[in-house]
Amino acid sequence: MYMKKTLIVANWKMYPLDEDVAVELATKVEQGIKNVEGVEVALCPPFVYLIEIKKHLAKASLGAQNTFWEQEGAYTGEISPAMLKKLGCSYVILGHSERKNFLGETPEMINQKVRAVLAAKLIPVVCIGEKKRLKGAIRAELEWQMKGIFKDIPSSAISKIVLAYEPEWAISSQVHAQPATPQDCKETISFMRDALKGLWDETIAKNMTILYGGSVNSSNIKEFLLEGNAQGALVGFASLEAEEFIKLVGNLIK
Ligand code: PGA
Repeated sequence: MYMKKTLIVANWKMYPLDEDVAVELATKVEQGIKNVEGVEVALCPPFVYLIEIKKHLAKASLGAQNTFWEQEGAYTGEISPAMLKKLGCSYVILGHSERKNFLGETPEMINQKVRAVLAAKLIPVVCIGEKKRLKGAIRAELEWQMKGIFKDIPSSAISKIVLAYEPEWAISSQVHAQPATPQDCKETISFMRDALKGLWDETIAKNMTILYGGSVNSSNIKEFLLEGNAQGALVGFASLEAEEFIKLVGNLIK
């Protein structure tokens, strides 16, 4: 496997409720990872904390958890990739299963968002994942998602995209959630690379950064990278506690 910098994306979801708590978390993480080499850490807080948190980051990058698919216009309540870029964001998480399930986001909508994010020179972190843990049947579901999300995206833009394999059944907020096994992760990532080969070509399939997400913590992170072939992780719950998250990042270089 080729090696790029390991990427850890912290998805804070709709937490915490208070800005001072958010700033404290970001400051502690920044402090805790400042000497870690070879790992890119991106913090993705709720929109309302982006400006303040940006002031406290040097080593860690900033990301958002969503965006709209136009850069400016009469779209009440939306926030654009161009705005996020101006705030100092580098990453945008797109197509998270919570957005699909609660807000009805479809692959077509995510496709438009991917294009807009790329146009604003931000890095999309595109989530795909199956709903249920069904051996075999997941392939068609993942391929369908990938086809829709990447429709007509030129190969020149593809190398900028990060994919995240996020099986919904493994996300810690789900009842009875369990992390995927490193073997599950390895098999699915290899299947995803095959699907990418079909959609584009071998080079793109080989070079795309693919993360794993779903109940990742400081104890299991390494196995997803070493045995699961993930090149990083999208971390929810374990990114909300500074000590645990710093430990997770630190364990990558041990
Ligand atoms: P989790 O969330 O780490 O809490 O399972 C991951 C995600 O939803 O991105």
